[in-house]
Amino acid sequence: MRDAMNAYPLDERPRRNRRTESLRRMVRETRLDPSALVWPVFVVEGEGEVQPIEAMPGCARYSPDVLVEEARAAYDLGIRAIALFPALDAASKDSQASESRRADGLLQRAIRRLKLAVPELVLITDVAMDPYSTDGHDGVLEDGVILNDETLPILAEMAVCQADAGADIVAPSDMMDGRIGYIREVLDEAGHQDVGILSYAVKYASAFYGPFRTALDSAPREGDKKTYQMDPANRREALREVSLDVREGADIVMVKPALAYLDVIADVRAEVDVPVAAYHVSGEYAMVMAAGAQGWIDADAVMDECLLAIKRAGADLIFTYAAREAAARLRAPTS
Ligand code: PBG
Repeated sequence: MRDAMNAYPLDERPRRNRRTESLRRMVRETRLDPSALVWPVFVVEGEGEVQPIEAMPGCARYSPDVLVEEARAAYDLGIRAIALFPALDAASKDSQASESRRADGLLQRAIRRLKLAVPELVLITDVAMDPYSTDGHDGVLEDGVILNDETLPILAEMAVCQADAGADIVAPSDMMDGRIGYIREVLDEAGHQDVGILSYAVKYASAFYGPFRTALDSAPREGDKKTYQMDPANRREALREVSLDVREGADIVMVKPALAYLDVIADVRAEVDVPVAAYHVSGEYAMVMAAGAQGWIDADAVMDECLLAIKRAGADLIFTYAAREAAARLRAPTS
């Protein structure tokens, strides 16, 4: 024993800093705060509606009146932003996503109610055609091809419609080229200079979006999204995407999904000086909840560890379906 100690003298003892909870807290490198969490929510037509989403335990589609109460409760937990997605019935969908551009569309009505009820809550709205379109694609589909430039005016009109209703930040998640600059210009022309753009700059063609697409019934009817969303194999290309979007005027850039792309989050954080968001998406959430329900893992602890890892990798903001539960835990730390 003594010989071994002499051969390897223990003058370095990192464990000293871990001895007590106070010491551990003192030297902690990464801290999570509820205001770094963005809660994505699904809104559905009706009154008093709460429609649980099977593949996303704990999540539901809410009618606007219920959503207002849920949003207020989230705000009281320290959450400062929600991201809104409309769940439309098949009859409201068409090939041009017309419902997305109606001043009295479901999403627009929900935005107005939320702004009145919880004015301080930041409202982030998704800009893409898929929840509104009969084909489930993010852009205009013609003969099996997603048309880039023909999609841009539709996205810009959608963004203006959301801003008119009271959206604070519009979030294009469609991955068309050039849409950030295009939307910025049209928003400014419409007098919405103060409405921000959070770009889903680095969005991968991921299999992790499954539960979300089921929740909105928005899966592509034909084909996939690989001609516009990024190839999961690509890392350098992420920097190309973010630098274009920042140049075009993005106020915040996002990497999505999150946990399987921590290397990309770290790269993006090092590259840009705007805030970086990451989206812990539906499939990532569902996996944790499913294993938790089986009793195979402690879902709360694993969720918190996932969120911390995403923050540690460099994300300033995290979109997570566990925002409320995580915020509640952060406010009442047990250890
Ligand atoms: C739509 C959109 C998607 C998600 C956010 N916005 C789905 C997709 O691109 O097919 C996925 C979010 C999630 O899985 O939690 N443009």
